[in-house]
Amino acid sequence: MAKTIAVLGATGTQGGGVAKALLKSGEWNVRAITRNTSSTAAKALAASGAELVAANADDVDSLVNAFEVRIPPIKIGVQAIFAVTNWWEHLFTGNDPHASGRLEEQQAWNIATAASKTPSLQHYIFSTLPSAEKLSGGKFQVPHFDYKAKVDERIRKDLPALAAKTTFLWLGWYPSNMAFFPMAKAIPVPGSETYIFVAPTPASAYMPVAGEVGTNTGVFVSAILANPDKSQGGRYVFVKTETITHGEIMKIWEGVTGKKAQWIPASREVFADMWGVAGAELADQYIWGVEFPDWEVGSAKAVGFVAAEELGVKDGDLVGLKESFGLLKDYLV
Ligand SMILES: NC(=O)c1ccc[n+]([C@@H]2O[C@H](COP(=O)([O-])OP(=O)(O)OC[C@H]3O[C@@H](n4cnc5c(N)ncnc54)[C@H](OP(=O)(O)O)[C@@H]3O)[C@@H](O)[C@H]2O)c1
Repeated sequence: MAKTIAVLGATGTQGGGVAKALLKSGEWNVRAITRNTSSTAAKALAASGAELVAANADDVDSLVNAFEVRIPPIKIGVQAIFAVTNWWEHLFTGNDPHASGRLEEQQAWNIATAASKTPSLQHYIFSTLPSAEKLSGGKFQVPHFDYKAKVDERIRKDLPALAAKTTFLWLGWYPSNMAFFPMAKAIPVPGSETYIFVAPTPASAYMPVAGEVGTNTGVFVSAILANPDKSQGGRYVFVKTETITHGEIMKIWEGVTGKKAQWIPASREVFADMWGVAGAELADQYIWGVEFPDWEVGSAKAVGFVAAEELGVKDGDLVGLKESFGLLKDYLV
């Protein structure tokens, strides 16, 4: 009998990728957790074979309920949970970066708490990010990274039984940012054939890239679930296809779009003036990234880092940056 996984964020980018891959595998029933079972994305999931369950990361009881599988008269829980939270939604609904972080931390903690109350659970996967604050010894703060990482620590410290079943997942930068995230999108220059990227970082700074998130998250999560002995115990897995400079990312963008571009570095102040608190947050991430391009250090190394090859993930299974831009071509300019 196929096992059941509850997927948070199944109507979104990461969770959608997980749901798609596991439904395709035929080895998993997918229980898609959503706040709105009537949305277009939720209905599309149901049409592709997922079971929809309404729950909210703000409400632990709704999650505990969602992590149960009910096949009357049998009542058993899910075997796996994929958890993701969305810091940016809190920011874009009027909270400042730290308030957004506290809300995200609470939601991630609610999901972990509900997971810890699910006796049938065998594997917990939490989509998190490294702590910029910790890795820099307190020099930098990047709330949309730092508050996620606080939950890793709390799971290790306060929920050791859950930690033993947990894999922490990091994702690099999404190529779709350059298609759909206004702060990262190319700007056409009136009267010129050249586009510009205004960014709070030099073109020479490195960035880990996740590749096509909708595909690659599913590939990694499938491999994590297939290899619990290698991935559990609070180990870290990184969804990453390449670590390259912003200038190299721009060159690939030029190759795919057939357009010319220039990289225009802006100071944190200028970028924050252009984009408000969201700009300041992205600037803080990029400025931290100049000094800390290698995320695979610090706490992750201490508790164990699992390379893609150890999980049997091959380069050919993943969709890298160039191919991702190819898929997004109509939205890049
Ligand atoms: N952009 C990047 O380069 C990048 C890189 C690494 C990590 N990240 C991180 O990725 C995270 C966002 O993941 P994503 O891109 O997959 O998000 P997304 O595509 O924007 O989707 C968000 C998902 O979260 C669900 N959700 C939001 N609030 C919820 C709540 N209260 N209860 C239950 N479900 C809720 C939504 O479901 P419903 O609306 O159906 O309820 C939706 O499926 C962020 O925290 C960000 O920091 C981003």
